[in-house]
Amino acid sequence: MCGNLLSGNYNQLKSDTSVVNMSAWVQLLYCVSLVLGSSLAEITARNERPIIGILAQESYSINKFFPNEDVHSFIAASYVKFVESSGGRVLPIMIGHDKDYYYNIINKTNGLLLPGGGVWFNETKGYAEAGQHLYDAALALNKAGDFYPIWGTCLGMELIPYVALNGEELRAHCYSKKISLPLNFKPDYKSSRLFSTAPKEIINILKTENVTVNSHGFCFTEANFTRYNLTDEWKVLSTNVDRDGLEFISSYEHKSLPFYGVQFHPEKNLFEFERAPTTLHTSNAIKTSSYFADFFVDECRKNGHNFEKELAKDLIYKYAPRYIGILGSIYEQVYIFSSKD
Ligand SMILES: *[C@@H]1O[C@H](CO)[C@@H](O)[C@H](O)[C@H]1NC(C)=O
Ligand SMILES: *[C@@H]1O[C@H](CO)[C@@H](O)[C@H](O)[C@H]1NC(C)=O
Ligand SMILES: *[C@@H]1O[C@H](CO)[C@@H](O)[C@H](O)[C@H]1NC(C)=O
Ligand SMILES: *[C@@H]1O[C@H](CO)[C@@H](O)[C@H](O)[C@H]1NC(C)=O
Repeated sequence: MCGNLLSGNYNQLKSDTSVVNMSAWVQLLYCVSLVLGSSLAEITARNERPIIGILAQESYSINKFFPNEDVHSFIAASYVKFVESSGGRVLPIMIGHDKDYYYNIINKTNGLLLPGGGVWFNETKGYAEAGQHLYDAALALNKAGDFYPIWGTCLGMELIPYVALNGEELRAHCYSKKISLPLNFKPDYKSSRLFSTAPKEIINILKTENVTVNSHGFCFTEANFTRYNLTDEWKVLSTNVDRDGLEFISSYEHKSLPFYGVQFHPEKNLFEFERAPTTLHTSNAIKTSSYFADFFVDECRKNGHNFEKELAKDLIYKYAPRYIGILGSIYEQVYIFSSKD
């Protein structure tokens, strides 16, 4: 019973309406008290003011839009809005810092979003190196009984298995740029946390309409996952087929920890207009994107860290997004950071 609750049946904790499922709470209180003793209050308090870290990445793809500025890294504003649209606040996480910086951030935030983008994993002091520390820190916290969610989109979804295997490059090449697809759910997708509480309408749209935005040159096949025994701990929830007929994993979740990855870009339906053409901005498409944002931010509400006073001075609000969509970027707006950030 406790094993079940603590190792993945998190949905019982979720109150989709304002009525809290008391019996689940009582069970959780009991189980958590057995396992954690004194940190009980921290975990059971539902946190309605979650602060979510979003990792920056090397700026080489956008430097051309800022010829006279010291731009060292950036975050596409669509990821920030994705979190904000569901009630979260954002702490930007810089690249190139030491291990303690990342561990400290995981200790103080309520969840982590690893965004998509286009950078290499083998750069010194880059996105993947930061991601390795963040993942290790989050894994350690979860193993110690804390509840700390991670969401990876596209490149971030590709990063999670890479760092879970301590830097193992197992991606396949994929021909999936500018293609929108319905999800091909795996037979048991309904027993996943990510989809089990999704309204029927959302599932139907995802199943039948071309609403997921694909823009990736790499992906994972199920064979890639099995070869590295990733299927022991990770559950593949859906697949898709690229332009060359290669079947790739389009969503997964960890079997017992609150870690999720999607190869497509829910934030683009909502907030990008170059890579997400008109058909991806239908009200149905937007509903699916909001579902994913709500799901992730709600997971973060289950984390009890409360350091908002300390984090306030570093929140994303201190930066102003820059409009580069009009200059030909695939991003409408980006947050840029200098080497001093
Ligand atoms: C993070 O929290 C853990 C567990 O409380 C603690 O052992 C560690 O020293 C903290 N690390 C940092 C860098 O704050
Ligand atoms: C992953 O799958 C692709 C496509 O089948 C294959 O080319 C690649 O070698 C696989 N990667 C590894 C590390 O097994
Ligand atoms: C969805 O996309 C596929 C593949 O590009 C295409 O064959 C199909 O016609 C599209 N369906 C709709 C309803 O647009
Ligand atoms: C996968 O698990 C099998 C059986 O435990 C083991 O022999 C093999 O070395 C593992 N493969 C990898 C890549 O870790």
